Amino acid sequence: MDALKAKDYTIHFNNAAYVALQDYIENTCFSKIFIVMDALTQTHCYPIFKEKFKTSKSLNFLNIGMGENAKDIETCVSLWQQLCDLEADRNSLIVNLGGGVVTDLGGFVASTLKRGISFINIPTTLLGMVDASIGGKTGINLGALKNQVGCFSNPKMIIIDTDYLKTLDPREMRSGMAEIIKYGLSYDAKLYETILKNPTENNAFLTEAIYRSAAIKNNVVLEDPNEQNLRKVLNFGHSLGHAIESYFLKTADKPNLTHGEAIAVGMVTAVNLSCHYCDFNLAIADSIKEFIISYFGKVTISKADYPAIIDLLKHDKKAESGIVKFVLIEQIGKYQLNCNVSEATLIEALNYYSA
Ligand code: GLY
Repeated sequence: MDALKAKDYTIHFNNAAYVALQDYIENTCFSKIFIVMDALTQTHCYPIFKEKFKTSKSLNFLNIGMGENAKDIETCVSLWQQLCDLEADRNSLIVNLGGGVVTDLGGFVASTLKRGISFINIPTTLLGMVDASIGGKTGINLGALKNQVGCFSNPKMIIIDTDYLKTLDPREMRSGMAEIIKYGLSYDAKLYETILKNPTENNAFLTEAIYRSAAIKNNVVLEDPNEQNLRKVLNFGHSLGHAIESYFLKTADKPNLTHGEAIAVGMVTAVNLSCHYCDFNLAIADSIKEFIISYFGKVTISKADYPAIIDLLKHDKKAESGIVKFVLIEQIGKYQLNCNVSEATLIEALNYYSA
């Protein structure tokens, strides 16, 4: 797989990526190198990294807690403090080895420490490989509100090595597939067709889908790095999806959803809204709903949950004066940005999901 050129960094793939990383590290005078991981990536992914990446430089290790709850300001303070105690300076490098939490948070910590130090992302989850690690969004959650604090800041390099996927459980793999489905539905009809024809266990399909998704994301970000217009397409299914994810995270009697499971609900509702506002074909909408629910399972959302979910929508980062603009589709692969949606049709869309 050829490397992809982003604006001021390169996305490298599989074993060739470690040659690029070795060159970069050997030829840059970093004062210190820090690897940020969580306990799972330390156990399952660091051995793969160590096997493939040989260096004479000494490495320092920084661990963060597991999961979405660790993506907070307390974890940042702890990392900033440890980095200062270990005498990190502006010539230090942070290597983020992990899923979206590690790359989002590690990127944010690097971008803010001493007004910004270099970082590299090595995503170890499918979701990280096709979305979170690419495009320079870094950040943390504010309570249950997702990604409310952060900045745009590019890594020096991204390494996508599909060997790390062997360490994932099926639920995590499905979570990443939600983002691949997103690219298919909103941007690339051919990709969606390929997804329908192939089970995720098919490695050739998966490799191709990862490369295609990373290329789509990179192209979109090249055109609109700061999300003024086109980049909003990457939020297809995410407005309601993020609200549902936050609501389930902060509500004691709700199960934890993966990001992909929440986005799957968001995509089904976005397709229903698309029927309402963009003349999307209802029969195709029904087939998308059937496919998504068969793939991700059905999330139980009752009418009593709606007001809190709709309230959380106001915190969507695309909201202007509390009004969310949705990304909808006219056809599979053909997006419409900045769509206004009424509360009544949102409720209809949630009913459609649950029906
Ligand atoms: N995950 C959406 C974006 O990076 O813009």
